[in-house]
Amino acid sequence: MVFSDAASCRAAPEAKETAMAEKAPQPQPGILDISPYVPGESEIKGGLKPIKLSSNETPLGPSPHAIAAYKAMADELDRYPDGGATALRTAIARHYGLDAGRIVCGCGSDELINLIAHAYAGPGDEVVYSAHGFLMYKIATLSSGGKPVPVPENSLTADVDAMLAAVTPRTRLVFLANPNNPTGTYIPHGEVRRLHAGLPSDTLLVIDAAYSEYVRRNDYEAGLELVATTSNTVMTRTFSKIYGLAALRLGWAYCPAAVADVLNRVRGPFNVTAPAIAAGVAALADTAHTDKAVAHNDKWLPWVTSEVQKLGIEVTPSIGNFVLMHFPAAKGKDANSADEHLKSRGIILRRVAAYGLPDCLRMTIGTEADNRAVVAALAELMGRR
Ligand SMILES: Cc1ncc(COP(=O)(O)O)c(C=O)c1O
Repeated sequence: MVFSDAASCRAAPEAKETAMAEKAPQPQPGILDISPYVPGESEIKGGLKPIKLSSNETPLGPSPHAIAAYKAMADELDRYPDGGATALRTAIARHYGLDAGRIVCGCGSDELINLIAHAYAGPGDEVVYSAHGFLMYKIATLSSGGKPVPVPENSLTADVDAMLAAVTPRTRLVFLANPNNPTGTYIPHGEVRRLHAGLPSDTLLVIDAAYSEYVRRNDYEAGLELVATTSNTVMTRTFSKIYGLAALRLGWAYCPAAVADVLNRVRGPFNVTAPAIAAGVAALADTAHTDKAVAHNDKWLPWVTSEVQKLGIEVTPSIGNFVLMHFPAAKGKDANSADEHLKSRGIILRRVAAYGLPDCLRMTIGTEADNRAVVAALAELMGRR
């Protein structure tokens, strides 16, 4: 019997291969519907060092204390990190007056968004977000087998009534980036509260406040108040933007205790590295550095907005560290032409067609020299110089 089986395998290898091909491993439903996230470009033809304004990174870099703390970990690379990221959670709790037990740290807030989707939205469940919301909401939803429900916006701003109208008994999650990337728009705290108040108690509202440190509006609140006072709100934050630690991949979520418990069950046991923990603690403590970054943004965000508008390019008013520019349909002046022209001048902005905004480019506020270079190059494009 053994011999005859072996003989038949030898006799028909193609048949065996075909049978194996027919049984190729298949990912879960929804996975192949995902368009992989395309990060902001960072290289330019010719190998010149570009002015990279494509990923909303800070032009000031990280705090020198964060760099020193990171380097100091070089002698301890053989040790696993503290799986609970205790030092960082304690530092965050002290900084914001929170309960450290309800903070969960992650490998970037991207990881936390994914973990939340996996833990709370399974096959057939619906996940609501605004139409031009951060791309990871759709990706995380599809990868957990859920159904993405993008909701039309009002003037490129989340529309609370429309989002509430989209909620059904299958809605498990509502993601709200506030301010939103790539539009730079926000909804005031009263509107966020109204959104929460309209949700069933078993639907989790996730407020993604990745850019909250930059916001200068009296009617804005990052989400802490709702997390503190409700059992179905989570706020996510990142060290990638104002803290300048994007390379280290560090984010955190403030959660109801029950949600923190769930995320701690599903996350990797050592999902945050020791150098990231050390740098995060030092970055948080250097408030002078963050104040400088806010002041820089306060100066250059309005300058870029008005200078670009003067060139006849519409700019969506932003409260983050980036602006969304709308290019005319005219040949040679559309978003693709603008992108090519800027690249020819060594400048990389972000194409946002994947967000349903093919006529736009998103620009991160850069150094003074970066910002002036973009305005000069756009002036050339628009025939103003
Ligand atoms: C709104 C928003 N949320 C989350 C993230 C992800 O940040 P992180 O680097 O912490 O994964 C980004 C990054 O661009 C973002 O724009």
